[in-house]
Amino acid sequence: MLEDRHQPCNGHLLFNQQEVIKIIDLFDSKRSNLIQILHQLQNLYGFLPIEILVQVSNKMSVPLSEVTGVVSFYSFFSTQPRGRHTIRVCLGTACYVRGGKKIIEKIQELLQVDLGGTTEDQRFTFEIARCIGACGLAPAVMIDNEVYRQVNSNKLKSILAKYD
Ligand code: FES
Repeated sequence: MLEDRHQPCNGHLLFNQQEVIKIIDLFDSKRSNLIQILHQLQNLYGFLPIEILVQVSNKMSVPLSEVTGVVSFYSFFSTQPRGRHTIRVCLGTACYVRGGKKIIEKIQELLQVDLGGTTEDQRFTFEIARCIGACGLAPAVMIDNEVYRQVNSNKLKSILAKYD
């Protein structure tokens, strides 16, 4: 049983059981609102650690396997802390052919982060995308909601420098 107090999550963030309960209550603890509840919690904490999922499961009387199943099904949910910005390098066909892989290697070198990972300073989370609709000007990279076209290794440094 979890104690009713602030608890460390992965050593970085704290969450409060009362806050979690308040959000669940906002949606009447209805099973059909599970996705919205998880959204609200992720907005509040930045990610969904297992401690929160257990609490959601208990409070809503939904099996933990169902809660974790929803979280792993939807790519917008994350059980790990995320960076302040998300880099998505496109590896769709056009981008792959025109150097997407080199961009990935350059980002790994510049930021010292693996694919799927988050930089130590929590600045960036680094992911792959499958076509972001800029095939004509490949290779493309998306950072948060901004799309950068015809990216090359030289341009990368100045693009990344815009984000803190
Ligand atoms: S394949 Fe990269 S934008 Fe379409």
